Amino acid sequence: MADDIATLPPLVEPDADATAARTQSHYGLRKRTLDKMRSKTTDLDVAPMRIDPRVYTDPVYFERERKTLFRETPILAGLSLDIPEPGNMMLFDALGPSILITRDKEGKVNAFLNMCMHRAAKLVTECTKRSRMTCRFHAWTYDLTGKLIGLPGKEGFEGIEKADLGLIPIPVAEWKGLIFVRGTPNGAPIDVADHLDDFGDELAALELDKARPVASSRLDCDANWKYAYDTYGESYHFASLHPTTIGALAMSNIMVYDKFDNGHSRLGFPREEFMAYADQPEEQWPHSDYGGLYMLFPNVSINVNSMKGGGQFYGISRVFPGETPDKCYSLHSTYQPAHTVRAEEVDRWKEMHAFIDHVISTEDYSVSADGQANLNWAPEGFASTLGRNEIALQHFHRRLASIMQHNW
Ligand code: FES
Ligand SMILES: [Fe+2]
Repeated sequence: MADDIATLPPLVEPDADATAARTQSHYGLRKRTLDKMRSKTTDLDVAPMRIDPRVYTDPVYFERERKTLFRETPILAGLSLDIPEPGNMMLFDALGPSILITRDKEGKVNAFLNMCMHRAAKLVTECTKRSRMTCRFHAWTYDLTGKLIGLPGKEGFEGIEKADLGLIPIPVAEWKGLIFVRGTPNGAPIDVADHLDDFGDELAALELDKARPVASSRLDCDANWKYAYDTYGESYHFASLHPTTIGALAMSNIMVYDKFDNGHSRLGFPREEFMAYADQPEEQWPHSDYGGLYMLFPNVSINVNSMKGGGQFYGISRVFPGETPDKCYSLHSTYQPAHTVRAEEVDRWKEMHAFIDHVISTEDYSVSADGQANLNWAPEGFASTLGRNEIALQHFHRRLASIMQHNW
């Protein structure tokens, strides 16, 4: 689905107010980043922070995380244009249960356990566009809102009410282009505004509701999901771990940091091309499409990025726990924003997507696997240290600790 942009609706015009808010926000971020470049400083937390390795290795803690964070917290399942039209659907299995998300005839998004109410077979195994879903086992059929509408051989089910056998709902909410689910069957509704809090305005300005999928991939990593996720949130490692890749494109250990409530953050990294005009007056700065990295708690990073002459694109990575504490994977998706009108650039974005996958797998996730293997054997009393410069990671881990309420 993500590779076939020809089937998507035409580009929608960007909204003037959102454009103004986005431009102002990204300009402000760049201005502060250039200040930091000139003074060779970075935003700092008040003190270093110690992290107990059990946060990355303990199986009981890991299971609690999978429940508390990944099945009770709102989790990003995709963007609106992943399922643009009535009858489009997607499967989302990253939280444990197989979740089926549909767009119904009214354009509303629904989510259910992907489980037939007859004998629990997986209802949908392939996401083709359709108006109803028929189970392959005995052909029970449901509409896009989850209602049971067909049951062959109904004399065999006398006394059973079809109305009681709709698919089991999963809480879902579509908010300004973001589709959130809570992986608890019959769970409490999702209050997106409450979850995003003051981060909501920043996200709204991105107009993610108009962003079209360009490419998507899955990257596996032999490390705890937080070890992998931590690699997205600091620039301290750019020069050492990525000398010829990211380190050649952005300066190391200089970062602008915005803290939002509920564990969300936004970061700005100095791009190499900023150096050409860092000392020039603002009026002479060229246009830039760079917009920083938006980190949506607990597991999402949205890279508002640009290629030279290629317009802005969004790179969204979501890191999920694997089956054990030392395994995880990420889903990486590149989107074309509505305000980037150069559709002919799609092939270049696909190349960029593949390049980023390569860097993450061979550099970030490779070092994550090394670190995880060592943490599994760390002696009593060892703790990892997050520096004052790793401020976004400190914020993330504090938020995590407050939700998980552990005493390490
Ligand atoms: S399990 Fe689906 S129809 Fe029987
Ligand atoms: Fe990295």
